[in-house]
Amino acid sequence: MDLAKVERVYTSYARIYDRIFGKVFHEGRQSVIRNLNVQPDEKILEVGIGTGLALPMYPRHCQIVGIDFSEGMLDKAKQRAAEHRMGHVQLHRMDAGAMEFKDDSFDTVVAAYVVTAVPDYRKVVSEMIRVCRPGGRIIMLNHFSNDNKIIAAMEKVISPFTKHLGWRTDLALQAVLEGTSLHVARKQNVNPFRLWALVECVNGKYVNGKTHINGVKNGNGAAAYAHINGTHLSEHASGQALG
Ligand SMILES: C[S@@+](CC[C@H](N)C(=O)[O-])C[C@H]1O[C@@H](n2cnc3c(N)ncnc32)[C@H](O)[C@@H]1O
Repeated sequence: MDLAKVERVYTSYARIYDRIFGKVFHEGRQSVIRNLNVQPDEKILEVGIGTGLALPMYPRHCQIVGIDFSEGMLDKAKQRAAEHRMGHVQLHRMDAGAMEFKDDSFDTVVAAYVVTAVPDYRKVVSEMIRVCRPGGRIIMLNHFSNDNKIIAAMEKVISPFTKHLGWRTDLALQAVLEGTSLHVARKQNVNPFRLWALVECVNGKYVNGKTHINGVKNGNGAAAYAHINGTHLSEHASGQALG
């Protein structure tokens, strides 16, 4: 999968995308945004925003920037933003693997059903970390390869075929997180058969050789939070938490 293929495949989906992938993956998108507890003026980047299905779910008191490489998908997102008169939303055509934003531009970065649909997930994850401020949140909603070895082997076999449809099925969460500064604060299984995972991470990147996260606490049904320079960032009243 390269960028030309992303453009070709997803632009050909654009007209029918909402009918095929709208309702079936709705619960996952809703869980992401419900759990965000978005603060006034919070700057949120949605990477691979597609047709903008999640846009109406965000509160209007935040600032949302959405990017996608597919012109066709992005046109649909622009139509949706115009129909809902979303003055708080900006949409740009951009490669998530080489973003044009400055370092630390966003408080929160969301990638829903994206890391398995991009040509190079390592570049995309590293760009998400770069443009998210230290201590900010990076949320990935995705199907990751199964812990069950037999199912994981089947996912590996079918992946070369699903790549023609626009996504891979053989990517493990561990591979995505490996070598990054992301700390998993919460992981929750969502969508039909609970085969998709909502993974909320805290961006623990270093600035001037020092981590700016003072602490990340989590626990089942308890608060998971991080703070930077004494400022409280996020709090989750419920949910399955991982260390
Ligand atoms: C499966 S769709 C998910 C769309 C949307 N997030 C949703 O919840 O339905 C994946 C999206 O990622 C976009 N995409 C893939 N590679 C990209 C890249 N390198 N840069 C930006 N967008 C990309 C595709 O164009 C497509 O719209």
